[in-house]
Amino acid sequence: MTEDLINKKDIYFPSSLGTNDNLITLLNRATQILCDWYSKSEKYGPLPFDDNFKCLMPDEDGNSTEDLFSDIESLLNNSFNPVHPGSLAHLDPPPLIFSILGDLIAAGLNNNLLAYELSPSVTLLEESLCKWFAKKIGFNDSSGGIAASGGTLSNLNALIAARHNAGLVSDPNSVLLVSEDAHSSFIKCTRIMGLNESNLVRIKTDNNGCMDIQNLRKTIDKCFIDNKKIFAIVATLGTTVRGAIDPIKDISEVCKEKNIWLHIDGSIGGIFAITSIPIEGLNSINQANSITINPQKIIGITKTSSLLIVSNMSSLENTFSTGLPYISSKDKIINRGEIGIQGSRPAEVIKLWLGLRFLGLIGIENILQSSIKRKEFFIEHICKKKFEIYSGPLHIVSFLPKGLTPKDAYFWTQTKVNELIKKNFMLSRPKFKDKYYLRVVMGNYNTKDSHIEELLRFLDDYQ
Ligand SMILES: Cc1ncc(COP(=O)(O)O)c(C=O)c1O
Repeated sequence: MTEDLINKKDIYFPSSLGTNDNLITLLNRATQILCDWYSKSEKYGPLPFDDNFKCLMPDEDGNSTEDLFSDIESLLNNSFNPVHPGSLAHLDPPPLIFSILGDLIAAGLNNNLLAYELSPSVTLLEESLCKWFAKKIGFNDSSGGIAASGGTLSNLNALIAARHNAGLVSDPNSVLLVSEDAHSSFIKCTRIMGLNESNLVRIKTDNNGCMDIQNLRKTIDKCFIDNKKIFAIVATLGTTVRGAIDPIKDISEVCKEKNIWLHIDGSIGGIFAITSIPIEGLNSINQANSITINPQKIIGITKTSSLLIVSNMSSLENTFSTGLPYISSKDKIINRGEIGIQGSRPAEVIKLWLGLRFLGLIGIENILQSSIKRKEFFIEHICKKKFEIYSGPLHIVSFLPKGLTPKDAYFWTQTKVNELIKKNFMLSRPKFKDKYYLRVVMGNYNTKDSHIEELLRFLDDYQ
């Protein structure tokens, strides 16, 4: 059906010259292959991969359409499949259908979020969406934000702005305070900022995995004595291993008292803040200076769709603006390459916008509630006599048979991960306070109670 394209090598791009039927044929075929892959997912499991998978490189002559579709099929058949109901390892849920469309449109548009003149409608869309999120979480009119590819980069945007705001850009004594359970990417952030691990100060967590506020106060006092200058404190809204939430209200009070920038890493839990789901601490997040919200991690907006929301947009403008001498600007419209680390950026925000418009607030809440319900179902039915269980208010559970030494835990978790994948359940194996655990992330809308029961039976049998 698509063979006719093979001899038409001059058709490289869509155009207004009547050649687009070919593109439609190709898109239909690609869509068919993608949907077949989704349909086959039950058969092939969450992580099919053939060691003989070949990464074919370009030939002298371009390959035929048939070759390319066969390449696509081979790629898909050797890929992690997020729609499989046993895909429970990470914060990578199935893709929302309208986000898939959004990705297609973003690619087809090929607009550039660097500048308004290269993406007028999408620039306004991103600005409006950030303001919409900001309003939802209780920020005022000076708020706004910027999209970036994932939590790491949103956090980095925030930390660079925080340090700039504190006037500590070139101060080697500047430090960042995070909890000991904060995400490992903060190590990377400090390195990128020209700091080292001694500039990343860890605050102890309590038995629930939440930042210990007494320890925070003590650490701040010690920093003052040691002439270390704190440019930001990070509260985590949903830790990676157990979904714990730091005491945001208390931390925000400390930050106000000491005049320190509060950044909330809401990569996992931030999206809950635009719903009415009652989770402690969420109603204080408007006390922060900045917050990362990463809808790709639970509600299935496709990667990447992370946002940094700030209470005051001038903090981003003052930090990142350099002027873009080769770009025409328009009064009162900020070129979005001037308010974050990235320059050229795709029009990715379309998939966030379409995804959110498609779901509406009720749909968003439904997806989030369902993830909590699956988590609760899992916890309700897992054998509490056998397992120690770590879980906060969100949809993540880490667990381990009671009484294992770190060495036993290493081998038990490794064996279980391998055994479970053969049964089509993909769990992860995080290292947490010197011990390995098994972790389930209940963000997969396709996972039903019957799948969880099956998983629990396997876990029980393997004891
Ligand atoms: C709490 C938290 N913050 C930040 C990140 C980094 O996000 P990304 O991988 O999207 O850069 C993660 C990743 O899982 C996370 O769990």
